Amino acid sequence: MYHYKDNSLFCEDTEISDLVNTYGTPLYVYSKNILKDNYARISNAFSHLGAKVCFSVKSNSNISILNILYKEGAYFDIVSGGELFRLLNIGVKGDRIIFSGVGKTESEIRKGIKANILYFNIESEDELNLINKIAIDLNMHVNITIRVNPNVDAGTHKHITTGTQENKFGLSVGQAYNIALKTADLYGITLDGFHCHIGSQITSTTPYLKAVKNLIRLSNKLKNKIPIKSINIGGGFGVPYGNENTPIPDISEFSNQLEPLLLNNDLQLFIEPGRYISATSGILLSELLYIKKSRNKNFAIIDAGMNDLMRPALYNSFHKITTVSKKIDSEEICIYDIVGPVCESSDCFGKNRKLKKLTKGDYIVIMNAGAYCASLSNNYNSRLKPAEVLVSRNNHALIRKKETIDDILSMERIVDL
Ligand code: LLP
Repeated sequence: MYHYKDNSLFCEDTEISDLVNTYGTPLYVYSKNILKDNYARISNAFSHLGAKVCFSVKSNSNISILNILYKEGAYFDIVSGGELFRLLNIGVKGDRIIFSGVGKTESEIRKGIKANILYFNIESEDELNLINKIAIDLNMHVNITIRVNPNVDAGTHKHITTGTQENKFGLSVGQAYNIALKTADLYGITLDGFHCHIGSQITSTTPYLKAVKNLIRLSNKLKNKIPIKSINIGGGFGVPYGNENTPIPDISEFSNQLEPLLLNNDLQLFIEPGRYISATSGILLSELLYIKKSRNKNFAIIDAGMNDLMRPALYNSFHKITTVSKKIDSEEICIYDIVGPVCESSDCFGKNRKLKKLTKGDYIVIMNAGAYCASLSNNYNSRLKPAEVLVSRNNHALIRKKETIDDILSMERIVDL
């Protein structure tokens, strides 16, 4: 739904240059209909397995985005009291929420229990005991799943791999087995099933199949001792960012390959996609401030920085970069490093990008910026987080105001001891 018409970029039926003129830059833009299509595509692909689709809130936690997905029927995967608050604030019922995370605090656990969430996905025995104690204190009963670390390498960037022994997440299969047995004696909680999430931006079905086989083997081993009702295979489904050498498998390929493993098991399946639903819906718009030439480089310096979109700096991630105007008058192609104003050499959105010759005032588009972009933004260099806008056909509306310096300073005090 991002396309050029008369050489000018549109999001659905809205001309991007209108958005730039109305809201300024840097600016995040999201297409409502891409978001809905992505959600529908993954729900349909897993519907023959009866899967419940839990949107991973950390990928994009704007309350308008969450509200759209709630109306579409999504469940939600959260990792903090803040994410829980966002959902409750827009009226999401607790029974659509799953709470993961290695370091849930006592206060977060209490809030989750009081909100009657579907289950806590526990990551250690200490956490299990604490949840049991709090549930008994509150005279309530809580469902849990155990997050298993299946020791499977997802073949993705090391910073977003989560399912190997090196990673802090989950419990080994052996530990999960022993803890599952112990849950029978804890009367504040009931074991619902097992969970794993092996990493993000996974582009092959093989590691999933290995991880799911581990979960099913574990469930079968326990079957006669303790009932296991569900398995949750996490998120991580890769999306095309534009530089892949091997094509990313279609989402139905994932679900079809899982089918034979899940048949005859009578387990409720949960999945937790974040990026798959939100990444391609969003872009970051930025104005070109300066062109600077060094001996062997052209730097295109834009008004967005690594604080606004950290993925390239954190993981060396590739995002396709283009311009709002197709620049048909210019034939000259130049090679640029597209960089931001932040005082770090890693503040670079793309190296050696071939673009039609740029001039000051051009608008630059960083594509596929709907997941882990706005949600990872920060105030480094006292920069203000950008505004966010939602587009549906030819309508658009602000869904997050641009921050002001007063917003930031209101958190600070002048104290001299
Ligand atoms: N479930 C759990 C337990 C997770 O930890 C995550 C992501 C997801 C689901 C959703 O994964 P997805 O479908 O979005 O890949 N900031 C990194 C990604 C970190 C992912 C953290 N966990 C990035 O920008 O690539």
